[in-house]
Amino acid sequence: MTTPLLSSPPPSAFPTPFWVLETDHTGYAFGLNPDGQLVHTYWGPRLPRQEDYPRPEAIEEWSSFNRPVHLITEEYPGEGGPKYVEPCLKVQFADGTRDLALQYAGAETVDGVLNLHLRDATYPLAVTLHYRTHPAHDLIERWVTLSNEGEDVMVLDRAWSAQWHVPAGEHDRLSHLTGRWADEFQLHRELLTQGVKVLESRRLTTSHHHNPWFALDHGQAGEESGAVWFGVLAWSGNWKLTAEVTDFGQNRISLGVNDWDFVWRLQPGERFETPASLGGFTARGFGAASRHLHDFIRQGVVPRGGELRRVLYNSWEATTFDVTEAGQVELAEIAAELGVELFVVDDGWFHGRDADTRALGDWWPDEKKFPNGLQPLIERVKALGMEFGLWVEPEMVNPDSDLYRAHPDWVIHYPTRARSQARNQLILNLGREDVQAYLIETLDRLLIEHDITFIKWDMNRNVSEPGWPGAPGDPRELWVRYVQGLYHVWGTLKARHPKVVWQSCSGGGGRADLGILRLADQIWVSDNTSAPARLEIQEGFSQVFPANTMEAWVTDAGRNQVPLEFRMHVSMAGSLGLGGHLAHWTEEERRVARREIARYKAVRHIVQFGDQYRLRPAQKQAFSAVQYVSKDRSEAVLFAFRTHIARPTTLPPVLLRGLDEAGLYEVEGVEGVRSGAAWMNVGVTLTLGDFQSTVRRIRRISK
Ligand code: GLA
Repeated sequence: MTTPLLSSPPPSAFPTPFWVLETDHTGYAFGLNPDGQLVHTYWGPRLPRQEDYPRPEAIEEWSSFNRPVHLITEEYPGEGGPKYVEPCLKVQFADGTRDLALQYAGAETVDGVLNLHLRDATYPLAVTLHYRTHPAHDLIERWVTLSNEGEDVMVLDRAWSAQWHVPAGEHDRLSHLTGRWADEFQLHRELLTQGVKVLESRRLTTSHHHNPWFALDHGQAGEESGAVWFGVLAWSGNWKLTAEVTDFGQNRISLGVNDWDFVWRLQPGERFETPASLGGFTARGFGAASRHLHDFIRQGVVPRGGELRRVLYNSWEATTFDVTEAGQVELAEIAAELGVELFVVDDGWFHGRDADTRALGDWWPDEKKFPNGLQPLIERVKALGMEFGLWVEPEMVNPDSDLYRAHPDWVIHYPTRARSQARNQLILNLGREDVQAYLIETLDRLLIEHDITFIKWDMNRNVSEPGWPGAPGDPRELWVRYVQGLYHVWGTLKARHPKVVWQSCSGGGGRADLGILRLADQIWVSDNTSAPARLEIQEGFSQVFPANTMEAWVTDAGRNQVPLEFRMHVSMAGSLGLGGHLAHWTEEERRVARREIARYKAVRHIVQFGDQYRLRPAQKQAFSAVQYVSKDRSEAVLFAFRTHIARPTTLPPVLLRGLDEAGLYEVEGVEGVRSGAAWMNVGVTLTLGDFQSTVRRIRRISK
């Protein structure tokens, strides 16, 4: 899957180095121009012949204010010379020079990765641009290594992963996701005009507010048609995306670790490797762009992306901190009877955790709530035929905890400033090796001593006073070292406990990105579990992430307004879980839940592994529909939701997608058999009242 298609035309034909990266349907070309600069020339549909890809040409200056170096589409611009565009790299050398002159120094392909070497003309800085193609996913992965080959420290002020050059169109639009806690992943599409649009996180994590993803089109793309260029940054800390339209009509999207408050002292002999950015092109609309990312995430990012996710129960909204062994057993017994496969105890299980005011950091079972430890509960859960999971928030500490009393210096802080609390907690400095060692040891013990196969890893605040007394380098390296430390701790635990499934949560969807998905198998998308709101949040999430990573519980939110069936269906469009107080559910509610869980189990392989089609948008629409189609197109499942529509009440037909045109299909609940073409052009007419929903299985009965 990661076999690259790299090619360089014969040297005799094109004397200057020139590269074409091809995937199944796309081509991406760049090479040296006559002045020796590395220039991007093409990104779009794959062309039939190598000779078709444009080679860099010499560019005349526009005026003394706009020299050629300002006008070229440089592949990885360093700050230097009269450029003025957003650079990817800014470096201060020891003598005070803040100007880069990167020159081509050779290239080779190693294990399918094209390494393209640049060196500064004067200073011993080596810059290697790495490229890996993912042909079947039509994605190109880029990252950069910076090496100090000299004897003086070099200070990196910016070290981004990639600049993507997107051809200019008439009405270029940027699609991106915005949000906030309990309102994540809202999709925006806006026209880009000259200037720079910045999206970023300054919060230490990816954040609820923006997501490191973009899609750019020429103003005409729809869900299933039109050219779309898209990309992500695989990083779980501060990040920045700039979408720049130059006055010469060039679109440049850059992504990398945020340079806000960023400094990295690159010591002699050391290297700095950026996170990866992935970029893709499709001629088939935003839906296809999402499906490329979904398949890549399932097959190339999430380590266990090919495993079916189990139906879980999580006790948080039912019990909050009032966790007891008897109460959990009562919930577990009902959950098992409804068909739940994994029982997860959320916050409130550990030493002294009676409220959110205390105990974070003390990761052993509370002696009063669990006098014999967690094992009796775990045994009971297993006897009921379920697996057992647990919530932790390892990066955090309450001042009122044994851990903080022993190590008040372990948190991120300035000695002269108050330590601002949020939810009564402070953040452990995961850049510190002693903190990393403590967390590995403590959580390792928890996992060794208990039969736990699922961990929900939470992170419930953003940073403030980002100080690091005694930092090994510049204290501002915190932004990167923290994330590296997090990856190290989590990665070590993951390697030691391979049977554990991990969930990334940060007060809901505050840490959802392709970096964390190398560790986490799924994401808790939002703390907002109201089904109508969830429809919009889940749809935004699906721009980037596949349904098997989208953990979705049915809780008691909206219990008196929205039918349980509707709430179940919303969650069944992802990785289904329950989170309501099951002991309070009526017999009728339990009957509906049991029926819908059984139905989910029958279709979840299609939902979790199939191709997703957003048939009718949910964001700001009262009638929405989403469909999942198995890879072999033999089966599909349609979800449709109506919230509140005043009038008229007749719903337009839902046009299905992704079926074989000539294959014959039947749709559950509709008389007769029709061709795929008919279902996709005539559609399915549904009758739904306010807050009604439907799930329809679709089967091919002949090719
Ligand atoms: C966060 C999570 C919730 C729950 C609580 C527990 O808010 O997003 O799902 O785990 O913490 O304190």
